[in-house]
Amino acid sequence: MTHFIAICNQKGGVGKTTTAINLAGFFAQDGKRVLVLDLDAQGHVAPGFGLQKGNGLYRLMVGEEPLINVAIPARERLWVVTNDHTCELVKEHVKQANFREYLLSNLLEEAADHFDLILLDTPPSTDVLHILALVAANFAIIPANLDYLALDGVNYVLKTLRSLGRYPGVTAPALIGVLPTLYDRVTRETIANATLLQQAVGAERVLPPIPRDTKVREASSHGQTLWEYAPACPAAVGFPNGSRQKNSRNLVGGYLHLAEIAAGLLNTVK
Ligand SMILES: Nc1ncnc2c1ncn2[C@@H]1O[C@H](COP(=O)(O)OP(=O)(O)OP(=O)(O)O)[C@@H](O)[C@H]1O
Ligand SMILES: [Mg+2]
Repeated sequence: MTHFIAICNQKGGVGKTTTAINLAGFFAQDGKRVLVLDLDAQGHVAPGFGLQKGNGLYRLMVGEEPLINVAIPARERLWVVTNDHTCELVKEHVKQANFREYLLSNLLEEAADHFDLILLDTPPSTDVLHILALVAANFAIIPANLDYLALDGVNYVLKTLRSLGRYPGVTAPALIGVLPTLYDRVTRETIANATLLQQAVGAERVLPPIPRDTKVREASSHGQTLWEYAPACPAAVGFPNGSRQKNSRNLVGGYLHLAEIAAGLLNTVK
């Protein structure tokens, strides 16, 4: 079975693309066949892997080219459907289509033969592609930086997830969790907002955080995943603290911890 994870928050700059890239890199190294589909006109997924932006999404959704022709290899067992300014034409096309909410999920049906995992990186907006991604997904992650407006973005996605039931045949994706990103554990504001987030959405829905780490920006400017650029940095492996939610390395948080949690959940659905 192919799993689809939507990574969404209409707030900009909260670490959606970073999360997609590093989860993809992890699972590909772990032996899975992984595709990252870029639904954002900014097209940041491709440069994150050292590739050029492109019109992959346009070719898939408007040109109706087969997914397998459009997906370009980024690493061993890892492919990308690129995006760029042509995304505006994709959105126009989608708006005029019948049964538009199902367009992406239908197009991705053929993916089952080719990929074990598809990560859907969504734009920082509430546009139509956002809904298409959630309809196609069976899991969701909501990255959230812990500033004072963080709850707005998280609540919006949670509300959208609840509203998906109105589309016939659609089951809302299971929430892997809200992922605190750019986490600064010595900043009072971050700590206070983390507590607010836990109170608002339920502590069990908040994932171990991704530390704020300059290596993240450096890695993406080199077109590399954290596993390639700085595999031992805090954003990759987490940090030691007194949390009970530690992973096998006695550290908490980081993309490795997230990947372990996600892998555990994916394994429960065969
Ligand atoms: N843990 C982190 N530590 C430091 N910098 C980070 C971290 N996570 C992301 N960044 C940086 O923050 C910026 C925004 O990250 P990213 O592009 O992943 O967010 P996004 O939610 O996809 O943004 P957009 O909404 O514009 O698509 C990037 O420059 C990225 O390198
Ligand atoms: Mg992004």
